[in-house]
Amino acid sequence: MLSMINPGIAAILLLFVLQWPPGTLASRNVTLESIEIFRTHEWFHGRPTIYFRCQGENKTFLPDVKEKNNLYTFRGEESWQPLTALPERKCKRCGFYEEDKLTTDDTFDEWELCPDQFSPAPEGRYKHSKIKEFNATFFCPQCNADSGSDPVSPSSADSNKRGKSKLVIVIWCVSFVAILAMAVFLYKLWQKKKKEEQAARFLRLFEEDDDLEVELGLKNEF
Ligand SMILES: *[C@@H]1O[C@H](CO)[C@@H](O)[C@H](O)[C@H]1NC(C)=O
Ligand SMILES: *[C@@H]1O[C@H](CO)[C@@H](O)[C@H](O)[C@H]1NC(C)=O
Ligand SMILES: *[C@@H]1O[C@H](CO)[C@@H](O)[C@H](O)[C@H]1NC(C)=O
Repeated sequence: MLSMINPGIAAILLLFVLQWPPGTLASRNVTLESIEIFRTHEWFHGRPTIYFRCQGENKTFLPDVKEKNNLYTFRGEESWQPLTALPERKCKRCGFYEEDKLTTDDTFDEWELCPDQFSPAPEGRYKHSKIKEFNATFFCPQCNADSGSDPVSPSSADSNKRGKSKLVIVIWCVSFVAILAMAVFLYKLWQKKKKEEQAARFLRLFEEDDDLEVELGLKNEF
């Protein structure tokens, strides 16, 4: 039984390790680099309360953005950054909104924010604008990181690192399969040996029985 459990535990441990390669854990944080609004939706001349939100997530208020036709730039380290984090190869529906105390909030724009909209790896910029509403630039260096074939930065240490981590994953997979095959092989071997042992014991028992019968038979004959 023990030799059957051990490969199972080994496999589970290996699966855990496989989850850990650094490349797959890198978060695709999206920060706001700049924004300029061209209008507000307030009826009265109040200062607008503008926020960014992706569907199913919390609002991120932009406390500084109050004036229209003024370019606000950010360092990406503000208390409210990052705006969101994108999954690999999956878009999120996000938008800029203006809070409205009386009715439902007003929408500057709502759109699909996708990782592949960002420029490839080292740069990671994405511009989104809506006429008469706003211009915004977003920053996410990891969002479009593994488009693999782009020859933009052949000598970059970053792509080198990525290649290495891919190699590590491949090595892990191969050794995982090898260990699994080995475990199955050993288990089969152990099973076969056990069966042979049982057969041998059975035969021995049978022979002993035979001897006994002969002895008994002899005794009966006399
Ligand atoms: C991404 O943002 C989270 C907070 O939302 C932070 O804890 C994490 O360190 C950030 N990752 C990177 C790579 O900046
Ligand atoms: C959203 O906000 C609520 C309350 O402020 C908090 O408990 C929750 O963890 C937040 N969710 C995310 C995804 O940040
Ligand atoms: C807003 O962005 C658009 C497209 O990128 C550009 O053509 C336009 O000049 C920008 N407007 C301002 C005021 O920056």
